[in-house]
Amino acid sequence: MPTTPSPPESRSVVRTLLRLWPYVRPVRARLFSAAFIAIVASCIGLVIPLVLKWMVDGPIADRDPAGVWLGALYLLLLGLAEALLFGFRRWLVARPLSHVEAEMRAGLYRHLQRLPVAFHDRWPSGQLLSRATTDLMLLRMFLAFPLTFLLVNGVTILVGVIIMLIQDWTLGLVILVPAVPVLVTCVVFEKRYSGAARLAQDQVGDLTTVVEESVLGIRIIKGFGRHRSQARAFRELSGELRGTELRKARLLATILGVIVTLPELAIGAALVLGAVRVADGSLSAGTLVAFLSTALALRWPVDSIGFLLAMSQEAATATERYFEVMDAEPESSATAGSRAAGAMGVPPLERSREWGRVGAAAPRNAERRSQPPGESRSPALTGRRPRPPVPPKRHDCPRDGGDGLIFHGVSFRYPDAPSDTAPVLDRIDLHIRPGESLALVGATGSGKTTLTALVPRLHEVTEGRITLDGTDITEMSREELRSRVAVAFEEPTLFSASVGENVLMGGGAGEDDLHRALAVAQADFAHALPQGVDTQVGEQGLSLSGGQRQRLALARAVVGRPDFLVLDDPLSALDVHTEAAVEAALRRVLADTTALIVAHRPSTVLLADRVALLSGGRITAVGTHHELLHDNPEYAHLMSGAPAGNQEDDER
Ligand SMILES: Nc1ncnc2c1ncn2[C@@H]1O[C@H](COP(=O)(O)OP(=O)(O)O)[C@@H](O)[C@H]1O
Ligand SMILES: [Mg+2]
Repeated sequence: MPTTPSPPESRSVVRTLLRLWPYVRPVRARLFSAAFIAIVASCIGLVIPLVLKWMVDGPIADRDPAGVWLGALYLLLLGLAEALLFGFRRWLVARPLSHVEAEMRAGLYRHLQRLPVAFHDRWPSGQLLSRATTDLMLLRMFLAFPLTFLLVNGVTILVGVIIMLIQDWTLGLVILVPAVPVLVTCVVFEKRYSGAARLAQDQVGDLTTVVEESVLGIRIIKGFGRHRSQARAFRELSGELRGTELRKARLLATILGVIVTLPELAIGAALVLGAVRVADGSLSAGTLVAFLSTALALRWPVDSIGFLLAMSQEAATATERYFEVMDAEPESSATAGSRAAGAMGVPPLERSREWGRVGAAAPRNAERRSQPPGESRSPALTGRRPRPPVPPKRHDCPRDGGDGLIFHGVSFRYPDAPSDTAPVLDRIDLHIRPGESLALVGATGSGKTTLTALVPRLHEVTEGRITLDGTDITEMSREELRSRVAVAFEEPTLFSASVGENVLMGGGAGEDDLHRALAVAQADFAHALPQGVDTQVGEQGLSLSGGQRQRLALARAVVGRPDFLVLDDPLSALDVHTEAAVEAALRRVLADTTALIVAHRPSTVLLADRVALLSGGRITAVGTHHELLHDNPEYAHLMSGAPAGNQEDDER
């Protein structure tokens, strides 16, 4: 079940980490061999004290130099074998683990692309970015190190303790005394640390979001002289993160203090006790040497437990954060169902953010690209030869084969809107006949963008249905739907790619389509760019003006010759003449296209066959521009305020 992250307290680290198994499975043979090799190497280390014992009680006691040299040779060989085996282990895991990391990252990216827009609306991009970077790195480190070494060190400590008990069980018990307080400290530590680790990782996500927003919004920040306040916001967040990191460091210091000090005290006590007994003659000097060097050999395995546990905690948190995204339900492949709502995890510590982002950021593009063609294909305006303006029949079109684009009693409420608020769209009935272009007019915030987003199923209708030529859109696959419907938004997003690649993203094949689309969108300026249509644009490339980008977005929408065009005010940045030229070209080329065009200017409205007025979530009037202008005061008011000037006179 996809979902809200469970609070860190309520999850078991082991259970969480077990979710990594499917990714680790393919490399399990290597991982297990590596762990086995490490155990062997570690145990070889424990043989060294036994050789020492043999040397002290044998050749050294007997003053036999040859025996001492032999012992030294054994020690050297053992040390060498231990070092070589550890080196071999490292070599064994390095490659497969970077493979695991790459696979997980690719999986995350793929999944992000399939998640619905509603998910991206609610998740800050920095949270997604930090999951794809920092968290995955933590996971790789965990697999490389703590995963193996918690096991290896556990086995080493066990074997070491057994050796010590066999050497001398009273001294062995003295060494074991700190085990209980150390274990208790570990348990307490684990709980506290997991909370701090989660907080820190979420704060990294928030910080990433701020950095990303400031980079994307640099013009606005500079334009309004907001760098100070922006820097302050950043400082506050990074101060919080620093506080959390310090808390982690304090926790780690505490546990290390306990883990290092107590065993050290026990070793000291064992040394004193052992020395007394050697003096008594009840213990051989060799046994004491062996005992103490075993105890010292166990120091690293014991001391490291603190940070191995800390890394495991962080890995568990990273896993949790990774799966919060992976568990979110992707867009269903075909049928209705997936009403986005409960399906998406709510990001932790979510920061308030603008939802309406169709930004141009590299990372954000990454997410956006995911939305298959729908989002990135833009539209175009259009329509086709004017047809007699017959007022649409409302409510009476339940069955309508091959009958254009129809909204049947469509209501829509954003998934995260409080349930007591009025829906954004309320029982919309609208019929756009085949080949017709219908302009959608309404005040800002009246729901025009929302309505256009329902057609390519960027959001799912809450009630009612939408049909394309008689087929419910929820009954077609998204691929089919999005190949028939092209959309262009007011904010034209271009990707870091060449002009040609950006346009051909909308479908079409080859030069001819590209040139035709550029011509239709009046985007011939592309040919005059430094490398023509191969010029790089977008984040890393040439900056284009708003109107130029809009025209490319438009070309992208028309390049695939879609049956249906949905244009959310995509010509807002064009001057009236260019706009008229675009529309004239669209009409010629896309004669069979059915279009829904959000319009603000009379000039745009005039090019549509009919106009629908959206007000208070409902379609309150439908008719020609002139009819509405005369009959509908709200429409008249909206049009008179339109900036493009009064163009009623040049009606076709
Ligand atoms: N992703 C979203 N989540 C929640 N509310 C939204 C979202 N997008 C838009 N809205 C709300 O829906 C209403 C209609 O917005 P929109 O369709 O963008 O209007 P328009 O395009 O007509 O200006 C607004 O009140 C807006 O606040
Ligand atoms: Mg809008």
